[in-house]
Amino acid sequence: MEESAGKTEYNVERIVFDGMTVPPFVPLKRDAKRRFEEIRNLEYKEDDVILTTFPKSGTNWFWEIICMLLKGKAEYVKEAKVSVFLEAIPDLNVVHGLASPRALNTHVPYRWLPKQHLERNGKIVHVIRNPKDVAVSMYYHFKSSGNINDDCHFKTFLEQIFLSAACPMGSWFDYEKEFEQAKTTDKDHIILTVHYESMKKNPIEETRRLGKFLNVELSDQQIADIVDKCSFQKLRHAAETFKDLSHREKITDTGEGAIRKPPNIYRKGEIGDWKNHFTVAMSEHFDTIFREKMKDSNIQVQFE
Ligand code: A3P
Repeated sequence: MEESAGKTEYNVERIVFDGMTVPPFVPLKRDAKRRFEEIRNLEYKEDDVILTTFPKSGTNWFWEIICMLLKGKAEYVKEAKVSVFLEAIPDLNVVHGLASPRALNTHVPYRWLPKQHLERNGKIVHVIRNPKDVAVSMYYHFKSSGNINDDCHFKTFLEQIFLSAACPMGSWFDYEKEFEQAKTTDKDHIILTVHYESMKKNPIEETRRLGKFLNVELSDQQIADIVDKCSFQKLRHAAETFKDLSHREKITDTGEGAIRKPPNIYRKGEIGDWKNHFTVAMSEHFDTIFREKMKDSNIQVQFE
């Protein structure tokens, strides 16, 4: 495990740790090994929930739903999900002081999740989104934050970043296969996997299922209110008008090689935007890679 820097289409310094490129958050830029180990050694608190996703899989959305479920109320949290984003917050100690139940979130792969959390059967909500939409979403995230140039085409991004060793947190394929493998030994059912697309298509049912997993008993009306408050338009509006985004500024270092601007998170929130970005040839090429990489996997990815 070593850190080294290299150049790609990335506008930012590429940090490599444990065989994967890691996002250029301040703590990871300073000392990625240290932050990953701090996460791995994070002390468990009763009723902790960890939301774990590959980047751009709907983390902000699901975090808000989880927070509302745990509070038993369809009320926005003043803080943004980055306030408890384990690999990005400047000082991980701040999470120690938070009241339970804590809803933490991270993109670190399964092998780096907090040990105590796993040993003490803490709950894990794992969200999976189809990788073509993840790639498109990441492309715009990178553009809006200045990680790649404005004139970088999607095809270039796909080849040089998403499908390459420069992809954040290793690769979508490895991340999801590692989770799938972990689930085969999850006797205590501490991991709940929710598909982004299922939440989009059946939000009431999926939110109820999520609530059940979190041992939260809510009425049909309360579930409906949470779904409504967490709809794309309303959540985007809340983020623009109500949320305290100061944490977001803190993780965006303005020094050389840093993320230059806070990214645009609430972009479209749809299933299948990839069709507007992949040509037929690109899509076929992606499908070939997908089939090869996922040949031993049973994950049912929903591309539409
Ligand atoms: P798009 O870029 O495709 O619009 P993350 O929170 O992990 O960074 O993921 C961001 C993606 O989730 C973005 O996808 C964003 O629009 C989408 N998203 C955020 N809130 C959503 C919501 N309420 N419903 C559906 N998608 C949402």
